[in-house]
Amino acid sequence: MARIVKRERLVPNIHCLEIEAPEIARKCQPGQFIIIMPDEFGERIPLTVADWDRQKGTVTCVFLIVGTSTRKLSLLQSGDEVPVVVGPLGRAVEIKKLGTVMCIGGCYGIGAIYPVARALKEAGNKVLTLIDVKADYLFYWKDKFAQISDKIFISSRDYIHDCQGYVPRVLKKIIKESRQEIKRVYSSGCTYLMYTCAQATKPAGIKTLVSLNPIMVDGTGMCGACRITVDGQTKFACVDGPDFDGHLVDWDELFARRKSYFDEEIQSLCYWEKKTFP
Ligand code: FES
Repeated sequence: MARIVKRERLVPNIHCLEIEAPEIARKCQPGQFIIIMPDEFGERIPLTVADWDRQKGTVTCVFLIVGTSTRKLSLLQSGDEVPVVVGPLGRAVEIKKLGTVMCIGGCYGIGAIYPVARALKEAGNKVLTLIDVKADYLFYWKDKFAQISDKIFISSRDYIHDCQGYVPRVLKKIIKESRQEIKRVYSSGCTYLMYTCAQATKPAGIKTLVSLNPIMVDGTGMCGACRITVDGQTKFACVDGPDFDGHLVDWDELFARRKSYFDEEIQSLCYWEKKTFP
């Protein structure tokens, strides 16, 4: 059992969870993830570690409510216990001094990209952060990003910020104006956001790492649920990733596999909501 230290709604539909997990907190690195079960009947949910406190022995994850199990996670309170927290899983992102790098996050990926951006900053890089939100009020952890970013760009559709439009258009403009300054791009968020980031950087030949989020079950390379194809080779995102070169990913396959249980997820959530809150 693992104790929930804090569960907080960051913005509508996105929550963060601080979990007491000293062993995971001691070892985890940027880009790695945990698997959590909200109760013994729930699914095993992979969540990227968004922050940690090694002294306190806690890890923090950010998640979006998409189905029954994440809805259950969103109802947890401080002091509650969950039956399963496993990690750290997956490979850490390679962090080294490259010069100028760009970290892109959208939705729950804003939290997931944070430790990567922080580590890149600590490694001596100039960190440009690009946050994609529909509107400004959906941008959480502004203070945290302000501390580790040399410059923050916000692509939004609310006419509050300079960078209007969806992330690829903004990214292409930044790349054009940067005069080949950006050496690498790191992206985290929904599959479509990462796909469009990879498409936008391809013409400029900027290596783009994407933190893939296929369906997972065991998270240790045993079940095959997270199978993807990268550069024509079969990979398992849980043990070979989750970060891969976005220019080499078979995106069509990934989109198709991610939709496998789409209808069942909606049915399950509707049934559970009706039963739990009649
Ligand atoms: Fe089972 Fe990756 S989740 S092999």
